[in-house]
Amino acid sequence: MSKHSINGKVVLIAGGVKNLGGLLARDLAQQGAKAVVVHYNSASSQGDANATAAALEALGTQAVVLQADLTTAGAVEKLFSDAVAAVGRPDIAINTVGKVLKKPMAEITEAEYDEMMAVNSKTAFFFLKEAGKHLNDNGKICTIVTSLLGAFTPFYAAYAGSKAPVEQFTRAAAKELGARGISVTAVGPGPMDTPFFYPAEGQDAVNYHKTAAALSPFSRTGLTDIEDVVPFIRNLVSDGWWVTGQTILINGGYTTK
Ligand SMILES: NC(=O)c1ccc[n+]([C@@H]2O[C@H](COP(=O)([O-])OP(=O)(O)OC[C@H]3O[C@@H](n4cnc5c(N)ncnc54)[C@H](OP(=O)(O)O)[C@@H]3O)[C@@H](O)[C@H]2O)c1
Repeated sequence: MSKHSINGKVVLIAGGVKNLGGLLARDLAQQGAKAVVVHYNSASSQGDANATAAALEALGTQAVVLQADLTTAGAVEKLFSDAVAAVGRPDIAINTVGKVLKKPMAEITEAEYDEMMAVNSKTAFFFLKEAGKHLNDNGKICTIVTSLLGAFTPFYAAYAGSKAPVEQFTRAAAKELGARGISVTAVGPGPMDTPFFYPAEGQDAVNYHKTAAALSPFSRTGLTDIEDVVPFIRNLVSDGWWVTGQTILINGGYTTK
């Protein structure tokens, strides 16, 4: 078993039962992961959790499903300790947890601000902390952020602003864990064609993203397919381990930095 291959490794994915996280879970199982622990939060994700677990088992990978709201440090610690109890220390930990809010700053309430910070920022911080404590040496950690970190655009102050600290958390964790061979990265997809994208956007914005070829130099829709993001993350958490401390935008040229 090579130090950096996925074959035979233990994987933990927060938000791992559907959309980007669900595809990542299936992909890493296809690469030969020994066990994949997939987390979900909402009761409405239970069906996706069952389907993902069945898909992983069909690929010969041990599947463990854990449910939690991860907005407290204790919940993130429990996620990792339950995963270790079930399948041993992870080699790869990926955090896809996120929540979007599109609103002018003047309309954002204190409760909405606090929720954005809790889901996008606090969860990511404690995920990195617990991953550092629980991962095997030569492990890989990746957090999903957003391509809005490279954008100059209104209405995403709370969403992009609560993902932005992850860039600095990633740098710090990469420095602190590097001596153990652990790489730490963040990936910011472009607006992805998943149910996450649509509720926060008005119809005008959806139409714009779907039709504006100018959003990508590739002259196609500006929306990113999760199938175009997964191979990059797969590489970062395996042979691409030499990339560390960095936040990389995967978006067909939608935004850059
Ligand atoms: N889709 C886009 O346009 C887009 C673009 C750029 C970046 N992103 C980022 O990409 C990531 C994945 O998004 P996606 O499109 O694949 O949608 P998604 O499946 O809805 O991903 C969001 C995940 O966050 C989880 N989550 C939300 N609140 C939580 C909480 N309090 N505790 C624990 N988990 C919680 C959700 O679980 P439950 O649903 O079970 O609550 C879900 O698994 C997110 O971080 C998002 O910010 C998305």
